[in-house]
Amino acid sequence: MERFRVSGGGPLTGEVTVAGAKNSALKLMAAALLAVGRTTLTRVPNIVDVAVMAELLRRLGCTVEHDSSLGTVTIDVPQELGHRADYELVRAMRASISVLGPLTVRCGVADVAIPGGDAIGSRGLDLHADGLTRLGANVHVDHGYLVAEAPGGLVGAPISLEFPSVGATENVLMAAVLARGSTMIENAAREPEIGDLAAMLVTMGAQIEGIGSSTLVVTGVDELHPVEHEVVGDRIAAGTWVFAAALTRGDVMVRGFQPRHLGFVLDKLVDAGVVIDREDDGVRVTCPRRPRAFDVMTLPFPGFPTDLQPFALVFDAVAEGSAMVTENLFEARFHTASELARLGADVRVDGHHALLRGRERLSAAPVVGSDIRAVAALVLAGLVADGVTTVEGTGHVDRGYPDFDVDLRALGADVVRETVSDQLFTTTG
Ligand code: UD1
Repeated sequence: MERFRVSGGGPLTGEVTVAGAKNSALKLMAAALLAVGRTTLTRVPNIVDVAVMAELLRRLGCTVEHDSSLGTVTIDVPQELGHRADYELVRAMRASISVLGPLTVRCGVADVAIPGGDAIGSRGLDLHADGLTRLGANVHVDHGYLVAEAPGGLVGAPISLEFPSVGATENVLMAAVLARGSTMIENAAREPEIGDLAAMLVTMGAQIEGIGSSTLVVTGVDELHPVEHEVVGDRIAAGTWVFAAALTRGDVMVRGFQPRHLGFVLDKLVDAGVVIDREDDGVRVTCPRRPRAFDVMTLPFPGFPTDLQPFALVFDAVAEGSAMVTENLFEARFHTASELARLGADVRVDGHHALLRGRERLSAAPVVGSDIRAVAALVLAGLVADGVTTVEGTGHVDRGYPDFDVDLRALGADVVRETVSDQLFTTTG
């Protein structure tokens, strides 16, 4: 078993540049299925989830090459595609569900295993299914697979999403661009990664209006053509480094993303006493003195992103004063809070609220992270804990951050990976 070994230390200083967004790259890879021929994506992060999506596309009949040193992925899409996404791959990564829309509209049928992925709440698929049903597909569950059938093709329709789900918006959008007629998606999610997907679809020849807003109007076209597209910068990875700098009271230039994609988060941090200088492609974060704790309520974009909630917990655990963190998107996403308590944080969880009273420093302990962001947040917590913290879950971080510990070390952190043998202790009597 591998884990991070983190020595608590001083401020992080230096510069870090984020790669393209995981949550965009995976969907853009799925969108490539919509056009026969070679699509090239640039600035693709070198993470395990990209390798999983590449393998999924290969099994559907595509030829996929990933040059991790250049950050490019080329996807050659054949005329005839397979339409089954197996459980083996889908359970490794929930984003596999984003092939559902493209396959349904391209093949007239799609069978996608019901995914696993991050251990954060129940994460239903009803909105994906309802959306495709509105477009004329017959959607049902069959032996662990979500099956969508539309042998005569999909037909545009008005769709009002009950909740602005990122994944459902993307699936419906990717299906609607090749459906007959016009589709209006109301209450669409507005995350920047959806804007990136829509931008690529438009370059491919799709007709989409309202990009960036909560109403998308799509006029279906007969076919799309392959393109070259650069993945948008990863705002969540950028947010991770912003919190790392603030927490350690460091001085870090975070590049490679659009500050407006983190607008609300940056405003909160400024109010808390963190100094943030915005530039075109990033921000400089300094934090000369102990910041004040702030309340957080996770919401769809442009609200506070749920993916940064674990970092807000760590921030509030060492900031001055008390704060309440409310998780509105994923009900079981407070695992970080209980692990933070092991590190000496004063934190109480009640339902989807966590109440924190800041302490000057935490105290090192062995902890376990349950998903990509939880592990990253616990490593950052280790940086502000006295002693040596070990964090299990390196595999989660590798799903979402290309060089997490390498980047941390470049900023002056004492973080290494270590392999430990699994030991089972049993007691009797
Ligand atoms: C995406 C991101 C994830 C982020 C989340 C919210 C990817 C690969 N993942 O996940 O990192 O945390 O957006 O910003 O892009 N829901 C339903 N039924 C559905 C769909 C969703 O009940 O059919 C619920 C989910 O259980 C959850 C909420 O809606 O409570 C948000 O889910 P959604 O926006 O769809 O997130 P994902 O696309 O899964």
